[in-house]
Amino acid sequence: MRLGIISALAEEQLGLVEAMRGPSKLIHGMRDYWAGTLWEIDAVCVLSRIGKVAAAMTATTLVEKFGVTHILFTGVAGAGDKTVQVGDIVVAEALVQHDMDASPLFPRFEVPLTGLTHFQPDQQLSLRLSRAAHEFLERDFLDAISEGERQAFRLAQPRVHRGLVASGDQFMNDRVRLEALNAALPGLVAVEMEGAAVAQVCYELGVPCAVIRTVSDNANENAATDFMRFVKSVAAQYAFHITRRVCRDLLKYPLQPSRVSAGT
Ligand code: ADE
Repeated sequence: MRLGIISALAEEQLGLVEAMRGPSKLIHGMRDYWAGTLWEIDAVCVLSRIGKVAAAMTATTLVEKFGVTHILFTGVAGAGDKTVQVGDIVVAEALVQHDMDASPLFPRFEVPLTGLTHFQPDQQLSLRLSRAAHEFLERDFLDAISEGERQAFRLAQPRVHRGLVASGDQFMNDRVRLEALNAALPGLVAVEMEGAAVAQVCYELGVPCAVIRTVSDNANENAATDFMRFVKSVAAQYAFHITRRVCRDLLKYPLQPSRVSAGT
C-alpha cells in the first residue's frame, strides 16, 4: 500500500513530515508532496489548502502522479449536531457536498450525472481510524494535550462519533444555517470544506479513502474564536498520534483488498 495523507492547513499536519524516514520533496501544482515512510508505511504527505477544488486537485494528483493506493484526510471540522462537542473526533461514514444544488434539474445535494448525493469512504480504513481514535483518547490524550489546553477548551471526556460529514466552500459560523443543514441531512455530525470532494475523486478513481476530523468549534458565531490556537495545540496532536497508531496497525495487520463502494 502507499498511503496519501492530506490536511488542509500546515497546523493540522504538524510533525508528520519530521516523523518521516527518508523524506523527499516534490513540488507539483503549487503544493509540496513529501514522500517517505511513516512508521514503516510508504506514505506521501501533502497540504491541500482549503476548499473542495483545492482538495480535489490534491487527491487527484496523489493518485495519478504519486501512485497512492489509499487516501486519508485529517483535519478539523465544525460540530454538525448538538451531541458533538469541541474536542470530539469524527470519522466519516458518508460524505455529502452540502453546497451542491442543481435543482430542479437534479435533486438537492446530488452530484449531477453520478446519481449520488452521499459518497462512502472505505469501511476497513474507517474502522481502523476509529479504533486508533479510541485508543488515542484512552491512552495518549492526557499526555498529548496539556492541562492548560484541556481546561481552556473544556475538553473533559472527548468521544468518537461516526456519521455523515458535510463539505462545502463556506466556513460555517451561523447557528441558523447549521440547524437548517442538520435538518436537511439526517445523521450529520460535522461540517468542513474538503472531505466530500476527496471522497468523490476517490470514488471516481476507484481508490479507498477515509476522513477523520477533530471538532474545533460549534459552527456558530463563535466558530473562528481561538480557531488557530485549537488547531495548533490540540488538533495537531490528535492527528499526529492517531496517524501514528493507524500506521502501526496497518503495518501489523495489512488491509484486505476492498472494492470501492458507491454512495446513495
Ligand atoms: N472546519 C473547522 N470548523 C469549520 C466550520 N465551522 N465550517 C467549515 N469548516 C470548518
